This record gives sequence, C-alpha cells and structure tokens, in this order.
Amino acid sequence: MKKVLITGASSGLGKSLALLYAENGCTVIACGRNQQRLAELARSNGNIRTLNFDITDQQDVLHTLGPIEDIDLAILNAGDCEYIDDVTRFDSSLFQRVITTNLIATGYLLQALVSKIKTGGRIAFVSSSVTYLPFPRAQAYGASKAGLDYLAKTMALDLKKHDIHVSLIRPGFVKTPLTDKNDFDMPFLISSEQAAAAAFKGLQKGKATIEFPGKFIFILKLFNTLPDIIWRKIMARNAT
Ligand SMILES: NC(=O)c1ccc[n+]([C@@H]2O[C@H](COP(=O)([O-])OP(=O)(O)OC[C@H]3O[C@@H](n4cnc5c(N)ncnc54)[C@H](OP(=O)(O)O)[C@@H]3O)[C@@H](O)[C@H]2O)c1
Repeated sequence: MKKVLITGASSGLGKSLALLYAENGCTVIACGRNQQRLAELARSNGNIRTLNFDITDQQDVLHTLGPIEDIDLAILNAGDCEYIDDVTRFDSSLFQRVITTNLIATGYLLQALVSKIKTGGRIAFVSSSVTYLPFPRAQAYGASKAGLDYLAKTMALDLKKHDIHVSLIRPGFVKTPLTDKNDFDMPFLISSEQAAAAAFKGLQKGKATIEFPGKFIFILKLFNTLPDIIWRKIMARNAT
C-alpha cells in the first residue's frame, strides 16, 4: 500500500489521478478547497481520505499538512489559469494571483512536504506544455509554469543525494473545468482520465519528464527548434 498525496484532487486531472491511484490499491490523500467535491470523491472509493486547505495560505498549508507522514508520492497538481486579455492594460493583480497559485504556493507545499517524503519516494510537479513556446495572453500562466519547470529541475538535482526522485509532468490540452472556460480551439484535447493514465504510467516507470499527448508534444518540440521568428509569424497570423 503506497501513500500518495495529490493537490487539486477535487476536480479535473487531480481527481482522475486520485481515483486511479485508489483503484490501484494506494492510500490517497486528496487535497483541495471544495469540501463537498472532496467528500463525494472520498465516498466513491474507500482508499481516499481528504484534506481541505488553500495552497496559497502558507499557515493553512503548514498547519494542515503538519501531521502527515511517510508519503511515497506527492503530486503537486493544484493550479489555475487566467489570461491577460489586454496587454496594454496589464493586469498585475491577475498576474500575482496566477503566479501565487501556480508557483509561490508550490514553495509552501515543498516546505510542508519534502521532509515527509519517504526515502526512495517521489515528488511530481504538474507544469504544462505551454512552456515550450510563447502563447498569446499566456503571460501569467506561462511564466508561472516556466518557473515551476525550473523549480522542479533544480529540486531534482538537490534531492538526488537524499534519494528522493522528481518528475515533471507537462500535459497538453486536457478537458477539465479549467479548459472548459477556453474560447479557442484546443488541438489534441484529451480527457482527464486519459491524462491521468499517461501521468500514472510515466510515474510508475520513474520518468523524470512526462509529456502527453505525444503528437502534440512532437509538434511543439519541432517548432521549438525553429527560429523564433517563424513561431511569432504563425501566432501573428492566427491573431488577425
Ligand atoms: N487542463 C489542461 O489542459 C492542463 C494542461 C496543462 C497543465 N494543466 C495543469 O494541470 C493542473 C490541474 O488542472 P485541471 O485542468 O485539472 O484544472 P481544474 O479541474 O480546474 O482543477 C484545479 C484543481 O486545483 C485546485 N486549486 C486551485 N487553486 C487552489 C488553491 N488556491 N488551493 C487549493 N487548491 C486549489 C482546485 O481545487 P478547488 O476546486 O477545490 O479549489 C482543483 O482541484 C493545473 O496545475 C493545470 O495548470 C492543465
């Protein structure tokens, strides 16, 4: 019986991951803010217990996670996305909200959790494939996830000597409440169950980087190798 802690487990990818790990016999600590959705999740599988806290509240994080011990796997998945709709009126409050939820709060979670990960255990950071290339209106979300990529990669370096492993998960578009708000085409959109299965498989294999779906990632990587001007022209053409 492995103990798996998952943040952002009240909906979307985190919820699908919680169910998948529970179905595979793990004890799951499902975290989130929405008590009602967490309670429903716990009722659906006896292996799931829940913790209710706001990851952006440092004291709440440290206090709530304080008693938790001996974690085999922590999946830091909670996150949010908001777009900067008009860069000429740059919304610094939005920028602060997104960076706080996706990056600063991860620092609070690491403070609370690193010492509780078992030797040989793993921390997984859910970033995004957005960090391959600059996308319009994604200043806040992209910057937060780019920061998360760097954080995860440096954590991997320094945790190695403590025999704690790190995985960086970079999904493409996944159908969840977060993307249901999007008003643009989402190529290669997959279900949260498909995304959870891909993440689960990568984590079981102990992969350092887990990216999906494959075709979408291949295209992003390809454009990433080309001169910036080509991507900028494509984005400019799409904007008109
Ligand atoms: N969907 C995609 O296409 C996609 C692509 C790439 C990466 N991702 C990443 O995948 C992760 C999960 O996203 P999702 O698509 O599954 O979105 P989602 O369905 O909106 O789920 C987000 C989860 O994060 C939790 N959360 C947000 N802010 C929180 C806070 N301040 N404190 C505690 N929990 C908080 C939410 O909990 P409550 O509702 O209980 O507050 C919810 O459980 C995010 O990090 C996202 O950036 C998603």
